[in-house]
Amino acid sequence: MKDLFAKIYRDKGPLGKWADQAEGYFVFPKLEGQISNRMKFQGREVITWSINDYLGLANNPEVRKADEEAVKKWGSAYPMGARMMSGHTDLHEQLQNELAEFVSKEAAYVLNFGYQGILSTIDALVGKNDVIVYDVDAHACIIDGVRLHLGKRFTYKHNDLDSIELNLARAEKIAEQTGGGVLFISEGVFGMRGEQGKLKEIVELKKKYNFRLLVDDAHGFGTLGKTGAGAGEEQGVQDQIDVYFATFAKSMASTGAFIAADKEIIDYLKYNLRSQMFAKSLQMSLVEGALKRLELLRRSTEFKDKLWENVNALQNGLKENGFDIGTTTSCVTPVYLKGSIPEAMALVKDLRENHGIFCSIVVYPVIPKGLILLRMIPTATHTMEDIDLTLKAFSAIRERLENGTYKKLSQALMEKMGE
Ligand SMILES: Cc1ncc(COP(=O)(O)O)c(C=O)c1O
Repeated sequence: MKDLFAKIYRDKGPLGKWADQAEGYFVFPKLEGQISNRMKFQGREVITWSINDYLGLANNPEVRKADEEAVKKWGSAYPMGARMMSGHTDLHEQLQNELAEFVSKEAAYVLNFGYQGILSTIDALVGKNDVIVYDVDAHACIIDGVRLHLGKRFTYKHNDLDSIELNLARAEKIAEQTGGGVLFISEGVFGMRGEQGKLKEIVELKKKYNFRLLVDDAHGFGTLGKTGAGAGEEQGVQDQIDVYFATFAKSMASTGAFIAADKEIIDYLKYNLRSQMFAKSLQMSLVEGALKRLELLRRSTEFKDKLWENVNALQNGLKENGFDIGTTTSCVTPVYLKGSIPEAMALVKDLRENHGIFCSIVVYPVIPKGLILLRMIPTATHTMEDIDLTLKAFSAIRERLENGTYKKLSQALMEKMGE
C-alpha cells in the first residue's frame, strides 16, 4: 500500500508544477494599497486590470463609511450559526427582499459564499432521475455542483446552439425514461472570454423542450441591463430565468451572494441548501454593506455608465490597434496573442516591470496550447490615461513578442521546462 501523500510528493498538479517559476509573481501575487485602478506590486505602482471591482464600489466613500459603521456596530461575528439555526436576522430578510425586487423575482435568498451557494443550489434542484445540461466552459462552481449529481449530465459545446439543442433532446429522452426533469445551466457572462450566455435563444427553446433554467450571472449583475440587473435584463428574458444567481464578489465589491426565483422555489431551497444549512450565515456587517451597495446601484446608473465608457474606450482602442479581443459581449476584455508559456512569462514581466501594467495571464491548459490570453477587467475607476498607457504598452509588447525578444529572454526557462 502506498503512502497517501506519495502522489503529492511526485506531482504538484497541473498548476502546482509551475510553482517554482510562478509563485508570488504570476500566481499568488501580492497587490498592495487600496483597491483601485492603481495599486502597488513589488513596490512599484501598476495600473490594475485584474480586479472585479467593476463599479468601483470597493473604495467608494459612502460604501467605506457604511462598511466601517457596520463593523463598529456588529463586529465581525454576528450573527453566529447557520441561517436556519441562529444566523437569521431582519436585515438578512430586508436584503433578500430588496435583491428580489432589483432582479425582478418574487423572492431571494442570501448566501454566505457564491461558490458553495450555487454548488448547493444545483445539488438541491436535482434528484437522481433528473438530467443536467450545462456549458462545457462552465465555471468551476457549476462543475463542482454537477459533480454531486447522481444522475445523468450532458455538456454542450460552449455557447453553441446546435449542441445545446442536441443535448436538450438527449436529456429530455432520458428524463422521460427515468421520470425526472431537466436542469439547464448557463452563465450570464462567461468570465474568461467575456461572451454572454445565449439566454435569449436558450429561453426560446423552452417552447420545444421542457427544462428549467439556472443562470450564474456573477459577471452580469451590476454591469449589464438597463438597471444593472444583469444578463437576463440585457437580453430581455429575466422573467424566463427560473433560478437567478449572482455573487457579491464582483460588482458589489464584497463577500456573499444570492439566488432569486419564485417564492415557492426559494422556500424550498432555503430548507435544502446544504452549504447554507450547515455553515455560518453571512455576517451582519456584510449584509449592511450589501444594502448600501444595492442602494447606490438603484439610485443611479452613474457607476455602470462610467464603467461602460471605459469598457468601450479600451475595447475599441484594442480593436483599432489590431488586437484580437475575441467575441466578448461584456466588460470582460480578453486579448489573445500567440506564444509559448515561457514567452508569456517574459511578456508579463515586461508588462509589469517596464510598463507598469498588471493584468491576469491565462495559458494552456485553460486555453489551447500556443495561445496567450491577457484578461482585463475594466472598472469605473479607470481613467482615459490608464487606457492610453495600456494601449501603448500592449503595442510595445506585441512587437517584442513578434520580433522574438521574449523567446530569447525565456530561452533558459524554456530549456528548463523542456518546451
Ligand atoms: C461565474 C462565477 N460564479 C461563481 C463564483 C463564486 O462566487 P464567490 O466568490 O462569491 O464564491 C465566481 C467567482 O467569484 C464566478 O466567477
